[in-house]
Amino acid sequence: MNTKDITEPLRAYAPGRINIIGEHTDYNDGFVLPAAVDKKITVSIQKNGSPGQCLVTAANLDEHYSFNLKDFAPLPSGWQNYIMGVVHELQQLGGKIEGFTCSFEGNVPIGGGMSSSAALECSLGYALNELFQLGFNQAQLIYACQKAEHNFVGIKCGIMDQFASMMGKKGQAILLDCRSLDYQYYPLEFGRYQLLLLNTNVSHALASSAYNTRRSECEEGVALFQKKHPGITHLRDVTTEQLDAHKASMPETIFRRCHHVVSENQRVLEATKALAAGKHQELGRLMYQSHFSLQHDYDVSCAELDFLVEQTLNKDYILGARMMGGGFGGCTLNLIEKARRDEFAEAAAHAYRARFGIGLTPYSVSIEDGASLVL
Ligand code: GLA
Repeated sequence: MNTKDITEPLRAYAPGRINIIGEHTDYNDGFVLPAAVDKKITVSIQKNGSPGQCLVTAANLDEHYSFNLKDFAPLPSGWQNYIMGVVHELQQLGGKIEGFTCSFEGNVPIGGGMSSSAALECSLGYALNELFQLGFNQAQLIYACQKAEHNFVGIKCGIMDQFASMMGKKGQAILLDCRSLDYQYYPLEFGRYQLLLLNTNVSHALASSAYNTRRSECEEGVALFQKKHPGITHLRDVTTEQLDAHKASMPETIFRRCHHVVSENQRVLEATKALAAGKHQELGRLMYQSHFSLQHDYDVSCAELDFLVEQTLNKDYILGARMMGGGFGGCTLNLIEKARRDEFAEAAAHAYRARFGIGLTPYSVSIEDGASLVL
């Protein structure tokens, strides 16, 4: 080993993600159709020779934090929890981690619904696995990153974001069965159409508390179905017929939550078929249905997202639009004719500013590979 090997930090990155369709289905053991994008977080890391002292820099924020591997715990909030959470979960798996110094930076918009959290978790998880030769496979890293978010950040998220960030493939969406983690890649080709993201630049405070509430409402729904059908363990198992049969005996809110999940799972499978057959109109129709279901049944949209989706209605050059991610802010995802992209983005930004007094940020993302070393 020469001096360069000792002093050069190891660099790894993990991307944010979009989701074509399948929102709030992952923690119900259902289906999702995400893809990794060209916005990412890169971690630069090296051993520092100490048995347990870790120094971390969030370069974009110019913030620093240090903690000791022997004794650390979540803070009330902050990026530090993602870092310590991943370290903790890898230790729980038996990973022997020693003192390290690292710095991370990236361009995944925070609160944009593109999962900057998973990008941070996965880039660090990947980097630690390489630096300390921990030998974990991708599935172990994905689950560890998800648990970091559960146990240190306090959001009981599903597996979609971490999976997409780790397993993304250039030009492809991933149809993921969140129960078995079976997956299949589907080429994302839209002919004369393209995806356009519009970032509302709002992230309402409700996002994390409502997320966990939705999750428990789904569990409440499962408990009701289980009384008649003991084989049902998640909303994934509920059929439309069972849902209709229980409607009258369920609290109205719980019914709507279940209705979203059951119908959204079907939409993911239909969307995958539409994608494979090049039926872009059909895919767009499903995207709209997904939005209205998230808006009216699942109650996770907000005025800004609804406004942007409304702007797309009755425009023959836009095939579909919907809110993306957990909700209460972040981006809408639009399927739009390439030639009209700029014109629409400009008009939507104008209307959005007039209505909310906030700027809108458009992104045309490209679909890229998941977590990797920077060589
Ligand atoms: C967040 C969570 C995901 C998923 C989406 C909603 O991004 O991290 O697990 O539940 O919301 O589909």
